[in-house]
Amino acid sequence: MAELIEVETERLCLRQWRRADRTPFAVMNADPRVMEYFPATLTRTESDAIADRCQLLIEERGWGFWAAEYKATHEFIGFVGLHTPSAELPFSPCVEVGWRLAFSYWGKGLATEAAKEALRVGFHSLGLKEIVSFTAVGNLRSRAVMERLGMRGDGTFEHPHVPENTGLRQHFLYRLSRANHAA
Ligand SMILES: CC(C)(COP(=O)(O)OP(=O)(O)OC[C@H]1O[C@@H](n2cnc3c(N)ncnc32)[C@H](O)[C@@H]1OP(=O)(O)O)[C@@H](O)C(=O)NCCC(=O)NCCS
Repeated sequence: MAELIEVETERLCLRQWRRADRTPFAVMNADPRVMEYFPATLTRTESDAIADRCQLLIEERGWGFWAAEYKATHEFIGFVGLHTPSAELPFSPCVEVGWRLAFSYWGKGLATEAAKEALRVGFHSLGLKEIVSFTAVGNLRSRAVMERLGMRGDGTFEHPHVPENTGLRQHFLYRLSRANHAA
């Protein structure tokens, strides 16, 4: 077990998952607006399995896709953080920065605020040389976050874990090096 890393931004805590996060997480994973660029919405069981996996990875490594808590209300609003993709991707091995927020928390700058902190942890505390991010080509909201973070587009690839019949296989890759982050 590694030392737990938990961080705060102006409006959010990025922390280890708690049992109480599971219900709001399942609600957001069942929301078709949140899951528009994923193959399907998730059942409660599927959602709980992801929460368990995130919690376990943070337990093991100290970092991961953290639960994002809105400080003003202590509400769980989704996840933001760093992750080693389980799929073998054309640019593996890599660490990605990723996010998923409940719909009512979109449009407030919260994903970008949290992701900036995740990048800081990745480059400064973990000593990563590069962090990537990727999403279905049509997911312009997510791509806008990547661009706001100063990540550079590096073309498209087919995500091997996304079924072909979904029309979501084609992904866009963004990269950020430690040197460009510092600049
Ligand atoms: C991707 C996702 C996290 C983006 O959320 P978001 O709220 O659009 O992103 P940001 O946190 O960067 O917020 C930016 C918006 O907040 C607005 N904003 C409002 N107050 C702000 C503030 N104080 N600071 C910064 N921006 C602010 C910006 O103007 C911008 O609005 P716009 O979209 O109308 O231009 C969200 O759409 C989501 O969870 N989607 C579903 C899951 C998903 O697809 N994840 C990615 C898969 S790889």
